[in-house]
Amino acid sequence: MFDFDRVINRRGTHASKWDMMAKNSGITAADGIPMWVADMDFAAPPGVTEALSEVVTRGVHGYYADTGSWAAALAEWMARRHKLKIDPAWVSPTPGVVSGLGLILQAVTEAGDEVVVFPPAYHAFRRIIVGNDRKILDAQPVQRQGRYEMDLEALAKKLTPRTKIVFFCSPHNPGGTVWSAEEIRSLAGFCAEHDLILVSDEIHCDLLLGGVRHTPTLNAAPEIADRLITCVAATKTFNLAGAHVGACFTSNAAFKQRIDARIAASGLASYNAFGMIATEAAWRTGEAWLDALLPYLAGNHDTLNTRIERAAPGARAMRLDATYLGWIDFSGTRLPAADVAARVKDRARIFASPGEQFGPGGETWLRFNFATPRPILNEALDRLDDAFRDIRS
Ligand SMILES: Cc1ncc(COP(=O)(O)O)c(C=O)c1O
Repeated sequence: MFDFDRVINRRGTHASKWDMMAKNSGITAADGIPMWVADMDFAAPPGVTEALSEVVTRGVHGYYADTGSWAAALAEWMARRHKLKIDPAWVSPTPGVVSGLGLILQAVTEAGDEVVVFPPAYHAFRRIIVGNDRKILDAQPVQRQGRYEMDLEALAKKLTPRTKIVFFCSPHNPGGTVWSAEEIRSLAGFCAEHDLILVSDEIHCDLLLGGVRHTPTLNAAPEIADRLITCVAATKTFNLAGAHVGACFTSNAAFKQRIDARIAASGLASYNAFGMIATEAAWRTGEAWLDALLPYLAGNHDTLNTRIERAAPGARAMRLDATYLGWIDFSGTRLPAADVAARVKDRARIFASPGEQFGPGGETWLRFNFATPRPILNEALDRLDDAFRDIRS
């Protein structure tokens, strides 16, 4: 019903992933393959295209009226997919999750405050923290049985009176970790004990690969609801990143008021009609598409992991529970990181995200976005096979 194998040309279409590749990576070859920024090369659910087509056909593009249907669609989606009950009145739309994180920092912290992150962690966290004159407090997870685990004991020793807030990525990007309810409860308890605000970025919550369930932080630890702000979006799930719409929600009325005040102060309380219509249509009509997509992504994940480990002996692929962002450690190849990067970039003409972008612990890793049709993925893997051929003989 949904043809994820179909290759859709995105070059020359203002697709950042394809059209910014040369500028951002230096790969100018006409056959370069972008496996960096987190969007997919698949068409969005047909219901989204229909909803947008209706708008385009009508041809009038005035201001958007928020009648409440958007937050209701989000609440229904979360209840259906994640057994999470949210009151639509808790929800603030933002122009994307990352801008929401900046608005949250402005609303509930002060310049100079410290923000905990668990690196290697989504690079925009760092950019937004520093850009808002806050400080990064790195709490490096440990690797156990091929996945990341938070080390809260080590974090406790690093806290200072300026540590005010935690950016928690659940599921984790780039580790693909789906945190267990127990792990989330431990973090929540830690935040309560140390009087920290917990921001739970759950943008990847729908992209589950191996039948593992995502536990929303609010469900794992309802007792800390008053210090919790959750961020979600339809854009990652349904490949609508260009729509630039996200949501944050909290049952803490004072937090919500402060966040909304920042939104209003920045002139962001009037929403992008195309983004709102596309994301509402996705939540309302996209479920069958997502259910078909997930096994396709899981298949790509298996192929990527198996073939990269075979191509570059010693490379170790993290077994993801979620996301479509393959996270590969090349330290076991014994090649210098610059050599690995050159093989991938110059020989294979593939733009993967450099691991150091994600902070401490990412230095020997590369992140490969595998949300692409199999003909493209297979071509990329054939080239990686060639790029590391000499170290296999
Ligand atoms: C953890 C996380 N948060 C937020 C975003 C981006 O959100 P947005 O495009 O809505 O700003 C990403 C994109 O990859 C992400 O991985």
